[in-house]
Amino acid sequence: MYEHPSTGSEPALGAAEGSFVIRLRTRAPSVALIALLVAVAFVLAGQGTALAVQGPTMTSAWVGEMPADLDSPVWERASSVYVPLTPQMVALPRLTKLSVSQVVARSVNDGRRIAIRLEWTDATRDARATRPDEFRDAAAVLFPVSTDVPGICMGAPGQLTNLWHWKADWQEDLDRGFQEVRDAYPNFYKDSYPFVTGQPPFRAPADFAAPDARPYFPGLAAGNPLSQPRTSPVEELLASGFGTAAHKQRQGVTGRGVWTETPRGGRWRIVFVRDLAASDSESVNLESRSEVPVAFAVWNGSNQEVGARKQLSGLITMRLRSSPAAARERLIETTLTQLNTPPTYLLLGFGMLIGVVALAGTWARRRARAAGQSSVDGSNAES
Ligand code: HEM
Repeated sequence: MYEHPSTGSEPALGAAEGSFVIRLRTRAPSVALIALLVAVAFVLAGQGTALAVQGPTMTSAWVGEMPADLDSPVWERASSVYVPLTPQMVALPRLTKLSVSQVVARSVNDGRRIAIRLEWTDATRDARATRPDEFRDAAAVLFPVSTDVPGICMGAPGQLTNLWHWKADWQEDLDRGFQEVRDAYPNFYKDSYPFVTGQPPFRAPADFAAPDARPYFPGLAAGNPLSQPRTSPVEELLASGFGTAAHKQRQGVTGRGVWTETPRGGRWRIVFVRDLAASDSESVNLESRSEVPVAFAVWNGSNQEVGARKQLSGLITMRLRSSPAAARERLIETTLTQLNTPPTYLLLGFGMLIGVVALAGTWARRRARAAGQSSVDGSNAES
C-alpha cells in the first residue's frame, strides 16, 4: 500500500503513480517558473531588447506646448542628462587637451516638433571666425539616418548620419547682422566698387544686391551655402564617416544660442528645433519612434577648435515620449505586433504545456481519489 506522507488520508495508488504525482505536485511550480523565465527571455531577445544596460539615456518629454525660448518653464518638464565628453583623438588634426568636459542635454517634443537643448561651460563667448586666428564656439548633434546604430566617427561608408551644427558666428549674424570683414578689421576701408549701392565702406551683402555686384562675393554668387544670408544658426550636414561632411541640400533645423556670464566664467545654452517627421530621405526620421541613438560634439573657439578638433560624447539613447493618447495607441499597436510573433507562440506553447501538465496532475489526483474512494467503498462493503 502506498500512503501520501503529508495527508495520510489519500487513497492508495500504485507506487510508481504515487511518486509521480508527488514529484509532479512538488516540482510543477518551479518547472513552470523556469519555463516562463526562459520563454520571457526568448521573447525579449526575439524583440531585440538589450538585456545588458547601455550608456546614459535621455528622454524627450512630451509637452502640450513647445517652449517659446530657452528660459521657458516648459523646460523643467524635461530631465537633464550629464553627458561626458572626450577629445577627438582618431583623425588628424586631433584635439590633444579637453576644454569642455561635459554637456547637459534635455529634450521636449509635442508630437509634431522636437527641441533639443544643450548647455556647457565656456568662459569666453567666441562668435566670430573671420580672422585666420579666430575660431567660433559651436555644438552639434549626430543622428543615424537609417535605424542602425551608427559609427561614432560621423557614421561610416554606407551608414549615413544627419548632423545638426549650431555655430556661434551664424547666431551672431542673425542677432547682429552679417559679420563681414570690416567687423573683424575696423580700419578696413573700401571706397568704391562697381555696381554697389549704399555708402562707403559699403556693407556686405546688403550693398552688393545688384546682380553685377555679386561677382565681388564669389561664394555668395556661386551659391556656397556658407556665404548665403543666414536664415538659421544651425547648418544641417550629412556624413558617411569623417572626411565626408557635406552641406545638406534641404535645411530644416532652426535654433537659438545664448551665452551668459556666470561666476565660473560663462556658459552656452543652445536649442535645436525640427519637425519630428523627416523632410526627405537624407534626414533622420524621429516620428513614431520610441528611441534613437544620438551623440553630441562641442567646439571651443578660444581653444582654436574647428572641424575634427573638438570634444565629443559617445552614443547615447534618446527615448521619445509621445502624448498619452499616442502612447496608448502605440502600446496597443506594439502589443498586437509582439503577440503576432514566433517567440510569443513559443510562450503560448509553454503556457499550454504547463496547463496540460497541471491538468494531468489534477486528473491523476482525481483519478487516484476516485480509485481510493472505490477501494474504501469496496473494503467497507466487504467488512
Ligand atoms: C571620433 C569621431 C570623429 C572623428 C574622427 C571626426 C572627424 C571629423 C573631421 C575630420 C572633420 C572635418 C570635416 C570632414 O572631413 O568631414 C569633422 C567635421 C565635423 N564633425 Fe566630426 N568627427 C567625429 C565625431 C563627430 C561627432 C560625434 C559629431 C556630432 C555629434 C561630429 C560633427 C562634426 C561636424 C558638424 C563637422 C563639421 C564642422 C565644421 O564645419 O566646422 N563629428 N569631423
